[in-house]
Amino acid sequence: MGHIVISGLNKQFVNRRKARREDDSDDPFGQTVPVLEDINIEIEDGEMVCFLGPSGCGKSTLMRIVAGFDRQSSGSVMIDGKEITGPSSDNIFVFQHSGLLPWMTVSQNVELGIRHMEDKHEKCAKIQEYIEMVELEGFEDHYPHQLSGGMLRRAELARALVINPDILIMDEPFSGLDFLTHMKLREEVVNMHQFLGKTILIVTHDIDDALVMGDRVIVFSRRPSQIKLNRKLDFPHPRNFFKKDTELAKLRDELFFMLGVNYAV
Ligand SMILES: Nc1ncnc2c1ncn2[C@@H]1O[C@H](COP(=O)(O)OP(=O)(O)OP(=O)(O)O)[C@@H](O)[C@H]1O
Ligand SMILES: [Mg+2]
Repeated sequence: MGHIVISGLNKQFVNRRKARREDDSDDPFGQTVPVLEDINIEIEDGEMVCFLGPSGCGKSTLMRIVAGFDRQSSGSVMIDGKEITGPSSDNIFVFQHSGLLPWMTVSQNVELGIRHMEDKHEKCAKIQEYIEMVELEGFEDHYPHQLSGGMLRRAELARALVINPDILIMDEPFSGLDFLTHMKLREEVVNMHQFLGKTILIVTHDIDDALVMGDRVIVFSRRPSQIKLNRKLDFPHPRNFFKKDTELAKLRDELFFMLGVNYAV
């Protein structure tokens, strides 16, 4: 299960960085900086929610709090009715790039997630199943440095999925990939989501990622961040936002304006 309820959540940081110049307009040293303000979100089990917002608005901070790596200043995060008080590897997996161990092969990296599984045959079958799911068969014995950027992300995805977490958190999972690999991997995440039905939280800077993938899109304002938009995306897949005058194309324009771009490209 992966039902998440975030209620009245606030997060402040104390600025520990000294301004470098006299006229530096950064927050003064030692001052409390509000980052997230009264965030209320309910995410259904199996929902894929995409988070958009300006750089520095607190998206990664919120993901860290949901994963239990950081603590909110006030408010609560409940997962399946239980309050989050620390990291839990049982039900949440945070997908991050460069998450593979360089001295282990693809198979060994995937195995890490299920190393405690006792039945060796079952373990091998599982590793193979997930390697095939991300289309990396034939690369089982390759080391991370022998893979392309897109293959690395696929291997990272296999490593995340083999654990069978209820919730997958992906903070900018496609950053640094070339355009076509980004498109392909995005499509694979949509397929994987339809097939596995996990709760997925994706932070992205790409409005089209959110529109193509999300069951819902949430847009944050500048810091201190509040929710500017929380919209269900009830559009069938595959989604085409290039068709003019459709609701999806209009929403795309709206999101561009909301994020400070005056004309959608
Ligand atoms: N450990 C910390 N100590 C102090 N300030 C922090 C800390 N972590 C984050 N911040 C501040 O909180 C704000 C939000 O940071 P966060 O990384 O969550 O933003 P983001 O929305 O993920 O940005 P980006 O889109 O650039 O990744 C920033 O102003 C950042 O400087
Ligand atoms: Mg971030």
